[in-house]
Amino acid sequence: MKDKEKFIDKVVIITGASSGIGRATSLAFAREGASTVLVSRTAEKLEKVANEIRKLNPNVLIIPTDVSLQDSIRNMIEKVMAEYGRVDILVNNAGTAHVGPISHEKFVEDTKEMMAVDFYGTVYCTKAVLPIMQRHGRGHIVNMSSVVGRKAFPHFAGYSVSMHAITAFSDALRQELHGSGIYVSIIHPALTQTAMLSHISPADMPPPFRRMTPITAESVAEAVLDAVHKKHLRVILPSQPKRLLLADAISPRLGDRIVRLMPNRVFASLIGIYRGKMYEHDTSY
Ligand SMILES: NC(=O)c1ccc[n+]([C@@H]2O[C@H](COP(=O)([O-])OP(=O)(O)OC[C@H]3O[C@@H](n4cnc5c(N)ncnc54)[C@H](OP(=O)(O)O)[C@@H]3O)[C@@H](O)[C@H]2O)c1
Repeated sequence: MKDKEKFIDKVVIITGASSGIGRATSLAFAREGASTVLVSRTAEKLEKVANEIRKLNPNVLIIPTDVSLQDSIRNMIEKVMAEYGRVDILVNNAGTAHVGPISHEKFVEDTKEMMAVDFYGTVYCTKAVLPIMQRHGRGHIVNMSSVVGRKAFPHFAGYSVSMHAITAFSDALRQELHGSGIYVSIIHPALTQTAMLSHISPADMPPPFRRMTPITAESVAEAVLDAVHKKHLRVILPSQPKRLLLADAISPRLGDRIVRLMPNRVFASLIGIYRGKMYEHDTSY
């Protein structure tokens, strides 16, 4: 990225910073000189990431927070304001995922949990930070969705619903904030190698993922910084899913057919989603 000075001394809150994409994004912002505020529920995990960051940049704050609870978020924002007096960038990234068919007995319960964390966590953090950014007349909000926030996958319905909700929320938010000096970016990564699905057995993975080579958390982090730097409205990464989304926009029947073919190794190689490596289901994260 050119113009690295852009993030020097910016105050960046990253939710879900203790692991995966959030950890990589926190490290990337810290590397570029930002003051990072690391948010997730688990203090020990946040402390580990903060220790990595301190080797690059001393300006790091950890605030254990449950993003599904508005009081917890209010408390987090109070601490940030006491320390820095402003928020320049908010990355709404905290999330959880359950897989399984809609017929599964836990479908409703699991979906409510994903909505509470992934979607309402995004809404609560945004609403807490917005008045601060509006007072300063500037800011940037990055919301983490997923490719399945544009095209739902079977056995991933509840998660796809919460990701679609984030997409719609971001779309409306961006338009409401037009001209305010506050920008909104939405990121739609494809399958990413993190802890999120590592507890799911290969046989229980949503079928389209079974032959998919995951991207790295670092590549998503780079896309987040780039989106803020260049004020991108929407980022889909890598590029292959764009073809699926285009096909689905032309005809849902065609979109469904592509999704059905995705577990096929030859087809997956042909469209470039299988690049010789599979998602690793280890639990060493
Ligand atoms: N991995 C993928 O394939 C993929 C693809 C597209 C989009 N995404 C999205 O990317 C985001 C990050 O996922 P990831 O893959 O990096 O997963 P991850 O490694 O499992 O990280 C999830 C993070 O969210 C935090 N978190 C979970 N529940 C929370 C809560 N109630 N309050 C606060 N923090 C909470 C976790 O920390 P604690 O446990 O300490 O709270 C952790 O830091 C998610 O929104 C996910 O939907 C992931």
